[in-house]
Amino acid sequence: MATVSEILQERLQDALRAIGIGNGGLLQATPTADPRHGDYQTNAAMVLGKKLKQKPRSLAGRIVAHLSLSDIGIAEVAGPGFINFRLSPDFLGHRLHELALDERLGVERTENPKTVVIDFSSPNIAKPMHVGHIRSTVLGDALANITRFLGHHVITDNHIGDWGTQFGKIIFGWKHLLIAENLDSDPVSELVRIYREADTAAKKDSAILEECRQELVKLQRGDNENRRIWQRCVDLSIEGFAKIYDLLGVRFDYQLSESFYNPELPRVVQELQERGFAEVSDGAVVVWDRALSEDPFIIRKSDGGYPYAATDIATLQYRLDRWRAEAIWYVVGAPQQLHFQQLFSLARRLGYQGDLQHIAFGSILGEDHKLMRTRSGESVPLQALLDEAVLRATAIVAEKNPELSEQERRSVSRIVGIGAVKYSELSQHRMTDYIFSWDKMLSLQGNTAPYLQNAYVRCRSIFRKLPIPFSATISIILREQAELRLAKKILQFPDIVSAVLDGFKPNILATYLYDMAAEFHGFYESCPVLSAEPAVREARLILCDIFSRLLRTGLHLLGIQVPEKM
Ligand code: ARG
Repeated sequence: MATVSEILQERLQDALRAIGIGNGGLLQATPTADPRHGDYQTNAAMVLGKKLKQKPRSLAGRIVAHLSLSDIGIAEVAGPGFINFRLSPDFLGHRLHELALDERLGVERTENPKTVVIDFSSPNIAKPMHVGHIRSTVLGDALANITRFLGHHVITDNHIGDWGTQFGKIIFGWKHLLIAENLDSDPVSELVRIYREADTAAKKDSAILEECRQELVKLQRGDNENRRIWQRCVDLSIEGFAKIYDLLGVRFDYQLSESFYNPELPRVVQELQERGFAEVSDGAVVVWDRALSEDPFIIRKSDGGYPYAATDIATLQYRLDRWRAEAIWYVVGAPQQLHFQQLFSLARRLGYQGDLQHIAFGSILGEDHKLMRTRSGESVPLQALLDEAVLRATAIVAEKNPELSEQERRSVSRIVGIGAVKYSELSQHRMTDYIFSWDKMLSLQGNTAPYLQNAYVRCRSIFRKLPIPFSATISIILREQAELRLAKKILQFPDIVSAVLDGFKPNILATYLYDMAAEFHGFYESCPVLSAEPAVREARLILCDIFSRLLRTGLHLLGIQVPEKM
């Protein structure tokens, strides 16, 4: 099913052909924000007018005169040469009926499916996942859902940081500072503690620093004891991560950690040297790209160790060779921008095709507008944050609906609390630094998950009052302004979903769902459903049915669940 934008674009092309402008290029007809400008608008006449040296307004007039739109609505020229489209109630009713029968709510699968690898979350071992990782995890998961829904072959890969210089200190700490009971009760925190203490000690005492280095060298050479300790740390951390992913409802197709690529690194570096892309500099092996930066891309350090960059080259090769990736998207914070520029530039020089993207994001701030920290100044662990979200949601849910059973309340609180955290992330443009505010994200009013979840519950409650299960049968006649407004919003869904990938902005979908829910509330307030006369009631039920399915689908794409009651 073509989207409304696509239908209008086609009709525009027909009209242009009729007036002898054969190839007008890509013309956009997009939903308007202000209903005074119609429902959709195009600036095609202005763009073409400039190109063809014709007056935009008169060109717009000629286009409109040749537009055949009688089955859709009307078009008119506005301002300096805009063309505004107004959709007719008949057309809206007809489209809604089609949507009611379409499981995918009008969203077509792409005709050019690609294999897309999405690298997201990717926390580090022996460091807790902190609130910064929530952005990568939540954004990456939403993008994966949406890309998959659009028909691409998506492979998600959690590139866990399980290798690196920190292991010298962790192993030193394990041997000298470990408290067994702590490790049993909260392993991730204990690993973090021993790392921090070893790090402090090494800063003060150069003998300890040297010992840590030796532990690292032993690990890299495959020393049995150090390998065993390392493996324990990895296992314990991954178990801790798994609990968080479970709570968030996030899954990965692969979890190929950095160490997975270790055996490839000597070959990768050697090949780059042989092909003349890398050279020795101050004992290290580096790749220069002075157009990008005066800092080299270090692929082997002077002590012989292979850093992050080397692993990323091996990882890229693996994804291209093994998975036949056509696109690789990395959802990683903005501070790593140069790393990815250097990686992608090298990949291009090596002749790798494909769509490489660094999908960056900003920081999460505390209510004091500074980077979010615990009272003792550390970054806030994610597990504690999510537990608090659920706890706070429990209080809200209990107050809103005391009738829920204990079990229902528990499950609803989880859906609401986790949904609130995810939505506060996804409703922002990813590059904005946003303020983490419990009160705001858990509010039942405003652009929040609980507001949307509540709109869903409200709508579904209508259906629970029906004597027989509802199924959409008749075509729909809409007359009231509130009905028409909601219907128009609903029809934008397919255009919105595909627009998300343009710039990787799930916030477009979030904002859309919010606007749609606001239209629903307007409708719900002014148009009684169950008490209306039969034909009207049927039409309104269809509207409600589509609205609730769409809201549920839209939120699921964002990785957010909806409760049936709350
Ligand atoms: N572990 C890294 C970090 O926490 C992120 C890894 C991102 N993925 C990649 N292929 N480099 O900063």
